[in-house]
Amino acid sequence: MHAFAVPSRCYPRPCRAGGPRNTDAAVLYVVRTGCAWRQLPFDFPPWQMVYWYFARGEDAKVTDHFLTALRRRFRLQQGRAERDGRLGARSRWSQDHAAEHVPADAGFAGILVEWAHRGLRTTLHIVRKTPGQIGFAVMAHRPDLPPGSTWWSLPSVPGTVESVPENNFDERVAQTYEAKWPELFDPAVVDPAVSFLADLAGPGGAALELGIGTGRIALPLSRRGVRVHGIELSPAMVAQLETKPGAEHISVTIGDFATTRVGGTFTLAYLVRNTITNLTTQDEQVECFRTVAAQLEPGGCFVIEVYIPELRRLPPGQSIHPFTVTPAHLGFEEYDVASQIAVSHHYWVVDGRLETRSSPHRFVWPSELDLMARLAGMTLRERWAGWKREPFTSDSRNHVSVWQKTS
Ligand SMILES: C[S@@+](CC[C@H](N)C(=O)[O-])C[C@H]1O[C@@H](n2cnc3c(N)ncnc32)[C@H](O)[C@@H]1O
Repeated sequence: MHAFAVPSRCYPRPCRAGGPRNTDAAVLYVVRTGCAWRQLPFDFPPWQMVYWYFARGEDAKVTDHFLTALRRRFRLQQGRAERDGRLGARSRWSQDHAAEHVPADAGFAGILVEWAHRGLRTTLHIVRKTPGQIGFAVMAHRPDLPPGSTWWSLPSVPGTVESVPENNFDERVAQTYEAKWPELFDPAVVDPAVSFLADLAGPGGAALELGIGTGRIALPLSRRGVRVHGIELSPAMVAQLETKPGAEHISVTIGDFATTRVGGTFTLAYLVRNTITNLTTQDEQVECFRTVAAQLEPGGCFVIEVYIPELRRLPPGQSIHPFTVTPAHLGFEEYDVASQIAVSHHYWVVDGRLETRSSPHRFVWPSELDLMARLAGMTLRERWAGWKREPFTSDSRNHVSVWQKTS
């Protein structure tokens, strides 16, 4: 385990309780087994949090340091020099070849090879895993490739859409959350929601916000005298919350709101801005209702604000629905009706540069949510089209639903 002291020390410290205990072990588990992040066993911290720390570690070049240390040790064990002395070998090698030769993941096989050859004058050498290989393995030396070649791996292809971080609210999104969605912070949007929630929490009540984010709703609700506790997956979002006046009155647990119990009971729990759809399986959404019910006082309420799936806007055979088209922001939903998943694609122009982001969501109908509530011992008390208690009709595009714990 000595070698792993490097990444362990390099991983950032958590900003609050509930941080990366065993996070480095979880990363090693993924690397060793080759499993998907989502398949991380439940006795590790939530996979989204692990991935967030992993991505921060990658930014800090933890893996590079780690591999350099291992490579150095391996060379010394073999009685070779500590470092490769052929400095500049790659550029000399390139000069001898008309097109640059680049090793690439198997994900690039197919038309990309042709595209790279024609468009970039680069010859891609697809490197496949050896049969039966799971997870990381040292590849055999390829004399046909330049020493120290730049490897094309899926997240880093120049000119393609940036890979989607598993934690959809990483540092970059957290820092620009308010700038990207200014309309959400408009008092005309915030105030009715806060009044609605304050009424339900009752005087001196305690509220639990799932996915508290940067405190858009929690901060003004707390100013109304409601004690607010938040659950949040993204430490980066919480870091933004902590910079705001009034944050000292709000406590936060870092964790997955589908499963995290924070201790104590609440008169109100709420989940706004379509955030229920961040749970991408029915099981997780059902579990979320159960987890909330277990933390509500008898008679306590659970409020969800979420959109009605826009399937009626899809002509037969079409799966894409644009929801925002402005000069600075283009957004569209890509529906997969069979799996009940919509991938939201965003394209922003920020300071003359294109920024992209895509995230998967499980869209869900009101009736399905009612059934989840019933499974968790709650019944529907109210359903509105918005926070000002607009009537909910067949044409409503959003709903604000309130379920009450009956037992
Ligand atoms: C759309 S933002 C809403 C933030 C805030 N509630 C607001 O209204 O501005 C969704 C937030 O939920 C968090 N989130 C998403 N899935 C989560 C999960 N499973 N557990 C905890 N937080 C989650 C995200 O990190 C993000 O901060």
